[in-house]
Amino acid sequence: MKEFSNSHVLITGGLGFIGSNLARRLVELGADVTLVDSLIPEYGGNLFNIDGIEDRVKVNISDVRDEHSMKYLVQGVDYLFNLAGQTSHMDSMHDPITDMEINAKAQLFILEACRKYNPDIKIIFASTRQIYGKPQYLPVDEKHALSPVDINGINKLAGEWYHLLYNNVYGIKTCVLRLTNTIGPRMRVRDARQTFLGIWVRLLVEGKSFEVWDGDQLRDFTYVDDAVDAFLMTAVSDNTNGGIFNLGGENAISLKKLAELLVNVNNGGKYVLKEFPSDRKQIDIGDYYSDYNLISSTIGWKPKVSLKETLKLTLDYYKKNLDKYI
Ligand SMILES: NC(=O)c1ccc[n+]([C@@H]2O[C@H](COP(=O)([O-])OP(=O)(O)OC[C@H]3O[C@@H](n4cnc5c(N)ncnc54)[C@H](O)[C@@H]3O)[C@@H](O)[C@H]2O)c1
Repeated sequence: MKEFSNSHVLITGGLGFIGSNLARRLVELGADVTLVDSLIPEYGGNLFNIDGIEDRVKVNISDVRDEHSMKYLVQGVDYLFNLAGQTSHMDSMHDPITDMEINAKAQLFILEACRKYNPDIKIIFASTRQIYGKPQYLPVDEKHALSPVDINGINKLAGEWYHLLYNNVYGIKTCVLRLTNTIGPRMRVRDARQTFLGIWVRLLVEGKSFEVWDGDQLRDFTYVDDAVDAFLMTAVSDNTNGGIFNLGGENAISLKKLAELLVNVNNGGKYVLKEFPSDRKQIDIGDYYSDYNLISSTIGWKPKVSLKETLKLTLDYYKKNLDKYI
């Protein structure tokens, strides 16, 4: 990872969950890091996420929908980690236009800024497993059909394909990571906008019971530090240019078993099984877990942190810091 020493790095969504964990690692690696974030309250950005490194990063509170800011910000950058996004599936259904403006239109502002002012940049785009829709087979690999079940999935799909097109047509080095449920310290726990696990953790730490809907759905999870490894490793490899790679986790687990494991790791707590609310059921993808062999064989990435350890590290963090997140 010596490539990052003295390199210029821009992270959109850098005050968010994954972006801030990435920033922490890059600071350790000696990079000159700028974070762009709009800090819209409903999203995952939080200034506390850079507690302890605030003097070692530059923070630019601006919106990726502002093409003039983006034109300025991409200049002189070696690596752009493009993570700014509207992440809530339900919010995308209630306000599809905002989701489109951030997850699709603004991506074109970013890419156009790079094409005109910094075509030598390398961009890693944070995409999502949501674009596969309801899996036709498991585990889901990158050849699986794309059939998003919600507005967010459609806009993220457009966002990732703009990135691929700028690689294929203009030769700007881009790479797409399709993330599955990513969890860990600094995720949004105020509500379930970013991940259902956020609200589970919050309620558990507050000593309240949490709800598990249905409970039989299978899911996989990536610990945030493992996701950070994937972003860094794809950035420094030319074999990833123009590529699409799934990330994944240890083993698939049902949500009911996950709830039991969480309670167990917490040494106590309660959950209640509930029926899936009908508006959410309509956009639920059912069972999902990913095949991440492609990224393993291309650059050697594998998740290292077990699910049990992931839950322990996450709970420990919020037992100390919950007040900064609610
Ligand atoms: N966490 C996951 O499980 C997961 C799964 C799949 C994909 N992803 C993708 O990874 C990326 C990062 O997600 P995260 O989990 O860290 O979420 P997050 O909400 O914590 O991070 C996104 C950040 O983008 C910022 N942002 C949103 N709109 C912006 C705008 N218009 N201008 C500038 N900044 C803006 C938010 O303030 C936030 O800090 C997102 O693009 C998301 O779609 C995450």
